[in-house]
Amino acid sequence: IVVDPFDYVVFGGTGDLARRKLLPALYHRDLDGQIPDEARIIGVSRKPQSDKAYRELVKEALEAHLKPEEMDKKVLQRFLARCFFVGCDATSEAGWPDLAATLEAGKDRIRAFYLATSPDLFGPICDNIGKHNLITEQTRVVVEKPLGKDLASAKATNDEVGRIFKEEQIYRIDHYLGKETVQNLMALRFANALFEPLWDNAYIDHVQITVAESLGVEGRGDYYDTSGALRDMVQNHILQLLCLVAMEAPSSMDADAVRDEKLKVLKSLKPITDGDVNTVTVRGQYKSGVNEQGVVPGYLDEVSNKSSKTETFVAIKAEVGNWRWAGVPFYLRTGKRLATRVSEIVVAFKEIPHSIFGEAVPANELVIRLQPDEGVKLWLMIKDPGPGGLRLKRVALDMTFANAFKVRNPDAYERLLLDVVRGNATLFMRRDEVEQAWTWIDPILQAWKESDKAPKPYMSGSWGPDEARDLIRADVPTREWHE
Ligand code: BG6
Repeated sequence: IVVDPFDYVVFGGTGDLARRKLLPALYHRDLDGQIPDEARIIGVSRKPQSDKAYRELVKEALEAHLKPEEMDKKVLQRFLARCFFVGCDATSEAGWPDLAATLEAGKDRIRAFYLATSPDLFGPICDNIGKHNLITEQTRVVVEKPLGKDLASAKATNDEVGRIFKEEQIYRIDHYLGKETVQNLMALRFANALFEPLWDNAYIDHVQITVAESLGVEGRGDYYDTSGALRDMVQNHILQLLCLVAMEAPSSMDADAVRDEKLKVLKSLKPITDGDVNTVTVRGQYKSGVNEQGVVPGYLDEVSNKSSKTETFVAIKAEVGNWRWAGVPFYLRTGKRLATRVSEIVVAFKEIPHSIFGEAVPANELVIRLQPDEGVKLWLMIKDPGPGGLRLKRVALDMTFANAFKVRNPDAYERLLLDVVRGNATLFMRRDEVEQAWTWIDPILQAWKESDKAPKPYMSGSWGPDEARDLIRADVPTREWHE
């Protein structure tokens, strides 16, 4: 369905995120015929350049990040003709009257400001947007992570944006929420009667959420070294996944109905304090090694601070303190340079109460694979076929998206960018959610800082430090990470 006419103003329009994600995503939506004729994409950055030069940059970005078979000459021409450029300085007057003049031509359209810049520019950009009267009835602003490095800075950033925009105009991106398989979590849980009666501490033994990457910090060492895995992945993506697994059914898909339920989960997270930080969290940092990327250097070889104590791996035993989840550990794990790239959620059910088979019977597991090889597997016990005795075998009911649907898996940004135009905030984070997540994260950061311990080393290509294995075995010695 074609969306309403819009002007997308991308601050940081020549930057990495725009080139790698935003422009290819909008191109794909154009390819699918969802972008109306009048729509414009207005790249903004400090150094002035012509529309022609910007279109050249856009073309190169598309060629670099799309498959050759996705490049359609006619659509490409159409897409490039939508792209304009305005040189504008976030922190001064320079260029703002030009931007105002460019936007004047589209004053009745939906207007989206995408702040794909460093967060310290959010405040100055918003102030200038306000000062130059660029906010119409139909205006939205999209902000990218990192939204703060702790609760205080997140509040400060939210205040800066909130001074100019109303909460319902603010779209905070967590790109994990735009992933097909993450959206599918809602379908799986709330469109099937099958799981919900079993979805609690009576039947679920524990939950594992893994987001493993094989890449290292790539060119982002400077940013990453001030962040670390807890801030970069857990505060946002992993806690959002946990919310989707643990939340109560919202009354509808309405943005606030969904976000109210997620907020309740975040508020129910048991605080991790100084006393238990060493038993329920593990920090790691990768050494050189070999993984699916080949022979790779260690973290300290890749960042400028050679004595950095920043973690590139974290494992946490989290608990959701409410009636549904009391006593069910949520094991969270993420890291860079691990053995392979895999994101998945494992819901491990309890064992049957009594075996009549003369042998222990492994428990059922629901494995939701978010990426790659997206799919859902439900591990069941069946009779091993054959004339012999009744022997059991573990098999999976296996649904792989690629086999079940012969369609391209759209990138998360495709959905999110157009949801902004549609005014649908369900897949975006509300202010209180972001701040509540920091409220849980802050004491962990604080306790780590006070203990001043170096992260545990792990070999690139492994599954993280041994201590992560000890963490999951601590409660039940036979419990293992799903690998
Ligand atoms: C980003 C993090 O938010 O998510 C990166 O800043 C990380 O460090 C990335 O690599 C992972 O996203 P995806 O979509 O590749 O799983």
